[in-house]
Amino acid sequence: MPIIPNFLLLEINLQNNCYKGYRIEILTKKLDMKNTGKFQIKELLHQKTYLINGELVPWKGKTDNVYSTISSTQAYKPTLLGSVPHMDEATALEAMQAACDAYGKGQGEWPTMKVSQRIACMEQFVTQMKTKREEVVNLLMWEIGKTLPDSQKEFDRTVEYINDTIEDYKQLDRNSAKFLKRDNVHAHIRRGPLGVVLCLGPYNYPLNETFALLIPALIMGNTLIFKPAKHGVLLISPLLEAFRDSFPKGVVNILYGRGREVAAPIMKSGRIDVLALIGNSTSAIALQDQHPYKNRLRLVLGLEAKNPAIILPDADLDLTIDECISGTLSFNGQRCTALKIIYVHEDIREEFNKRFAARVDALKFGNPWEPGVMLTPLPEPGKPAYIQELIDDALEKGASILNKKGGETSDNYIFPAVLYPVTPEMRVYKEEQFGPVIPIKTFSDIQELLDEIANSNYGQQISLFGKDVKELAPLIDTLVNLVCRVNLNSACQRGPDVFPFTGRKDSAVGTLSVHDALRSFSIRTFLASKDNAINNEILKQLLETKDSNFVSTDYIL
Ligand code: G3H
Repeated sequence: MPIIPNFLLLEINLQNNCYKGYRIEILTKKLDMKNTGKFQIKELLHQKTYLINGELVPWKGKTDNVYSTISSTQAYKPTLLGSVPHMDEATALEAMQAACDAYGKGQGEWPTMKVSQRIACMEQFVTQMKTKREEVVNLLMWEIGKTLPDSQKEFDRTVEYINDTIEDYKQLDRNSAKFLKRDNVHAHIRRGPLGVVLCLGPYNYPLNETFALLIPALIMGNTLIFKPAKHGVLLISPLLEAFRDSFPKGVVNILYGRGREVAAPIMKSGRIDVLALIGNSTSAIALQDQHPYKNRLRLVLGLEAKNPAIILPDADLDLTIDECISGTLSFNGQRCTALKIIYVHEDIREEFNKRFAARVDALKFGNPWEPGVMLTPLPEPGKPAYIQELIDDALEKGASILNKKGGETSDNYIFPAVLYPVTPEMRVYKEEQFGPVIPIKTFSDIQELLDEIANSNYGQQISLFGKDVKELAPLIDTLVNLVCRVNLNSACQRGPDVFPFTGRKDSAVGTLSVHDALRSFSIRTFLASKDNAINNEILKQLLETKDSNFVSTDYIL
C-alpha cells in the first residue's frame, strides 16, 4: 500500500469518509493529523549559488534536481525537493585555487592567525548555525528519511561536537603554552595545520559526519573544499551564509556535483594535502590514485564495516534483543557502526531467533515524522532491489527468512528480513549491506568464531553479549586486537564523540574523536632556540610584545 504523508490529509474532505479509495478512519488512525502541515515542504529549495572564495557566486550552469524517495502523492512518486548546481571541472579547480590561495602555502591569514581568533570565527559559525536547526532537521527527514528524533539528535550532536572541539582546542593550546628545555635547547612545541583539505562526507550522517571532519580541519588552520553527500545535499544550503560570514575568504569552499567530475580533477592537481572522507574504500582508493604525490597526501578515512554481535549462552536475552534491534535497525541499518551480522551460540539459537524475529516484525514503518517509527523510507532508490538480491542469494544457498514480514517490498522500502542460517558463501555474509537485512549465523566453538572474525576484512567494532567474567575476560583480550571497540552487552556506536572512533584493516585510516581529530588534521611544529643571551632576549620580547601569533604562553579562557 502506498505511503501517504501526513500533510496530504489536509487535502481530504472529511465529510467524504474516503479519499481516493482509502477509508479515512484507517488513515486517521495511522497518521497524526496534528503534525500534518508542520513538516511539509512548502516551497522548493533551488540552490542557485555556491560558496567560493568568500562569496556566494550565482551558478549559471547545469543543475541537478534533488528528490526525496518519500511520496507526497497517493500514487507513489518521489517528491521533488529542489535542485543544486551540477559543477564541472573548471569550477572545481577554481574552488581548489581559492582554498590554496587562502592557505597561501602556509602564509595565509587563516593558518597564521592567533588560536583565539580562529576560535572566535568558529564561535560565530556555531551561533549562526543554531538558528537554522528547524530547516536542517526538516531537510534531513526528507532527504535521507531519518526519523524526527534522530534528525534532531544529528543536528544537536553536531552543535555539541563543535562546542566540544572549541573547548578541546583551548586545552590543547594551554598545554603547549610553555617552553621545554633539553640539551641546551628551548622548544616551544605546538600543532600546526597540514594545508588544503578535500572533505567528503557520507549520506547517512550528511551533517554530523561531514562536520566531524571539516570542523577540526578548519580550527587547526587548514583551508578546505567540501562536497556535500549525494543524499543530504540541500540541508547544507541553510548554512552557506554562516560559512561565508564566519571565516576569511577562501577558507571554506563548497562543491556540488559528481565526485568523478569535481573531486577527481582536484586530486589530480596534486595540491591536496589531506583527503578526509567518510564513505567506502572504492571511492577513497580511486581518489588517492589520482594524486600524483602520494607521499604528501595525508588520509583521514572512515570506511566500511561489518560489526558482529557475539551472543554467548548466558547472555541476558531481554537486554541482548533490545540492543540487537537498535544495533541492526536504527536508521534501517544504514550506519557504519550497525550490527551487520549476528553470531548466536547454538544453545540459545532457537529462543533468540524466535524472539528476535517477532520483535523485528513489531517495528513500525512510516514517514520520518510519524511518532514511534523506527523503519523509514530508504533514500537510495536502488536500495530495496539490492537488499532483495542479497535475500534471494541467501535463500538460494539455503537460508530462510525467519520473520513473517521479512522482504515485504513497497516503492521506497523493503521490510527487514531476518536470514538464518547464513554461511560464508552468501553475499550477505561478505558484503556490507548498509540496509535492512539481518544475517544470523550460529557458533558452538568460540575459537573458530574468533578465527573467523580475525580473517574478516573489517575491524571497526564488536558487540559482546554474556555475563560470565571468566569467559568474557579472555575474549575481551583477543577482541580488542581484532577491532577497535568492544561493546559489552550493548550495540556498537560511534558516540560519545569524545571517545576514539577508528577501525582496523579496511574500516578506517586515522582516528576521529573530538580530541583525536584535532591531531589527525595537524602536525607538530616548533620553535627551537639555543640557550644563549641573544636568543633568550628574543624569546622574552616575543612573549612580552605578543607580536608572534605562534609563540605565546597566553592561557585562553
Ligand atoms: O555511519 C557511521 C556513524 O559514524 C555511526 O555513528 O554510531 O552514532 O550512529 P553512530
